Amino acid sequence: MLFRQLFDRETATYTYLLADEQNGEAVMIDPVSHQLERDLKLLNELNLTLRYSLETHVHADHVTSSGALSAWTGAAIGVSEAAGVKCAHLPLTEGGVIPFGRYRLRVLATPGHTHTCASYLLDDQMVFTGDALLIRGTGRSDFQSGDAVQLYRSITGKLFTLADHVRVYPGHDYHGFTMSTIGEEKAHNPRLAGKSEGAFVAIMNGLNLPAPKHIHEALPGNMQCGLNVGLPLPDMDHLEVDVAWLQAHRAKVRVVDVRDRGEFEGDLGHVDGARLMPAADLTHLAAPLAKHAPLVVVCRSGRRSLAAAKLLRKQGFTRVWSLAGGMLAWRSAPRERVTV
Ligand SMILES: [Fe+2]
Repeated sequence: MLFRQLFDRETATYTYLLADEQNGEAVMIDPVSHQLERDLKLLNELNLTLRYSLETHVHADHVTSSGALSAWTGAAIGVSEAAGVKCAHLPLTEGGVIPFGRYRLRVLATPGHTHTCASYLLDDQMVFTGDALLIRGTGRSDFQSGDAVQLYRSITGKLFTLADHVRVYPGHDYHGFTMSTIGEEKAHNPRLAGKSEGAFVAIMNGLNLPAPKHIHEALPGNMQCGLNVGLPLPDMDHLEVDVAWLQAHRAKVRVVDVRDRGEFEGDLGHVDGARLMPAADLTHLAAPLAKHAPLVVVCRSGRRSLAAAKLLRKQGFTRVWSLAGGMLAWRSAPRERVTV
């Protein structure tokens, strides 16, 4: 299995990339909004197809990039059902299975840091614990829907029932650790080793931590899969975006080209990463795309794409625009750096 542990220094957040290198199907866990370009570039370089973008919970300290990752790659967003995140495609519950290639992640409900926290178990080998179990620590339980008793029971009654050899990959680390094992945390986690429920609750109640710095932007941002962050979308009163807008936001929107294959592969070429969906088959081909992810439709001159954008809006796509001037305008505009 291909495995990458990615780190965001600003928020000390780990993002995990797992993939079956045989067929290239991949899963990301807890992607961070300001690392979107890094993550898209990596997926591209490793030639991976992102199937799922999963959250361990609705984060209070950073904003997810799941909405933009989904817009770009078509990945389904998975968040605990109880979180009520409307832009998620997969409402996850205990025992749920997330397949990618030859592998499976199993959902373990591990509430307590928040009441919707999930951990993901890979084949009794690795567990991604989010902010429930950290290395030599735990997530806090004093805001959102945290509950120290619930956290103690999730860890001791569920995570600590896994085999001792299972490797623990947390959502954050502030001390330079990268991984641990269930056995190691049972023996050495100072909040848990030899501690009763009452002792644990007393420790948690005595922490007196300051509120996370970005909580007021992070929570509403994450309830919208991060789609309202870093992507100033044009007004829905407009049906078109111009070339400069698409150049500036290329990494964060999906581009659908409604010409036929001959034009798509012809002299004018196509926008890098665009998906070919000829106008005649558009209704059928676009059906599986996420309805709320930003989408720009392209054709040769902008006329067919305008009609296609209107059609897609009628079909329930809420963030779709046509590229004014089409490929003729795209090709004649000064080329800016294409980041992905
Ligand atoms: Fe958290």
